Amino acid sequence: MNAASIVVDEKRLWDDLMALAQFGAREDGGVCRHALSPEDIAARAWLIEKARERGYGVVADDAANLFITRPGRDGALPPVLAGSHMDSQPAGGKFDGAYGVLAAFEALRALDDAGIETERPVTAVAWTNEEGGRFHVPCTGSRAFVTGKVPEPGQIGEDGIALADALRATLDAAPDVERIAPGFPIHAYVEPHIEQGPILESEGLPIGVVTGIQGVRWFNVTVTGEPGHAGTVPQAIRRDALQAALRAIQSLNGLMEDFDDIVRFTVGHVSVVPNSPNTIPSSVTFSIDFRHPARDVLDARAARVADLIAEAVKPCAAEVALTTSMQPVAFPDAVTGAITKAAGAAGLKHCALASGAFHDAAHIAAVCPSGMIFIPCRGGLSHHPDEWAEPADCAAGARVLANALVQLAT
Ligand code: GLV
Ligand code: MN
Ligand code: MN
Repeated sequence: MNAASIVVDEKRLWDDLMALAQFGAREDGGVCRHALSPEDIAARAWLIEKARERGYGVVADDAANLFITRPGRDGALPPVLAGSHMDSQPAGGKFDGAYGVLAAFEALRALDDAGIETERPVTAVAWTNEEGGRFHVPCTGSRAFVTGKVPEPGQIGEDGIALADALRATLDAAPDVERIAPGFPIHAYVEPHIEQGPILESEGLPIGVVTGIQGVRWFNVTVTGEPGHAGTVPQAIRRDALQAALRAIQSLNGLMEDFDDIVRFTVGHVSVVPNSPNTIPSSVTFSIDFRHPARDVLDARAARVADLIAEAVKPCAAEVALTTSMQPVAFPDAVTGAITKAAGAAGLKHCALASGAFHDAAHIAAVCPSGMIFIPCRGGLSHHPDEWAEPADCAAGARVLANALVQLAT
């Protein structure tokens, strides 16, 4: 059987996407499935059961990454991996991450249905805490896989629970899944994902061959002022932490100004203490998400963030911590070529494009040739309950994936 003839089951994949979206379903049609939450644990149990029904091997590592393996002819060879993450944004959608995991799972089943044997094993993977919505250091699972240890296990999540405890609870919930240490040799990695931008939809293209991922810096900023009564303390002597944070964000807007509109700068998380209408804010914490495809631009602007904030918040004080740093990644021809060839074999129009969002592939690229397949999403919208991808596009991406996996695993 020729790899070009692999047919994925569009309805089976779609039904799985809709079923997974029930774990953490929001009333507005979106999904809130925080990493390692009860909803995530239930979703994992659902997927583990489906994998076992198919006879695939299932193992988990200390970071609760889940690996579902279809054997190859030579079990001693490092496998080819494909997948993404199952955690969502707090007000997220049904596709970001979930699509990549289920497209990979569908690709395994499509290989079975087509009777295709690969030389190497092919493994579908669900990485832990890619989004960083609950535990604010993102890509926990893929980082652990690359470094061999869980990053910042002591970090406290949005709900006051430590990452190490949430990991333990998740792993304990599936005691019959074999446990391994993070990291093992892999031959190649492919991550299917919705584009999260408007290009494929506006160009009418079902497939994007991803050339690379821009770099990211995340900072956590805590501004400390002085509390007081809103009706009595004169403006002139106040140390209002929220006003100071606003000045800091204004100066950051200046720092991040970019005539070419390539810099991406977002303050998306703010918390105010005590958060009361008639008390002067005593402390404010805010996040900085800053991205660019060029490392020198990232480094140069990131180096100025702390000083600029310290100046802007006076007479308040600020602590600035760099919490995440991901370098820009360019995917190698070995993987982009296999994806391009797979799209051609399936008769699917495609284009090359770069990823503005980060992905687990940015980390896995450090240990093996990696790449990504994008499919269109409606209006380019993501990180939102209305996130949407068409069933036919979901199937097209899984078909390209299955074909690329056969090339890479044979
Ligand atoms: C991933 O979700 C990102 O923020 O790019
Ligand atoms: Mn994602
Ligand atoms: Mn995301």
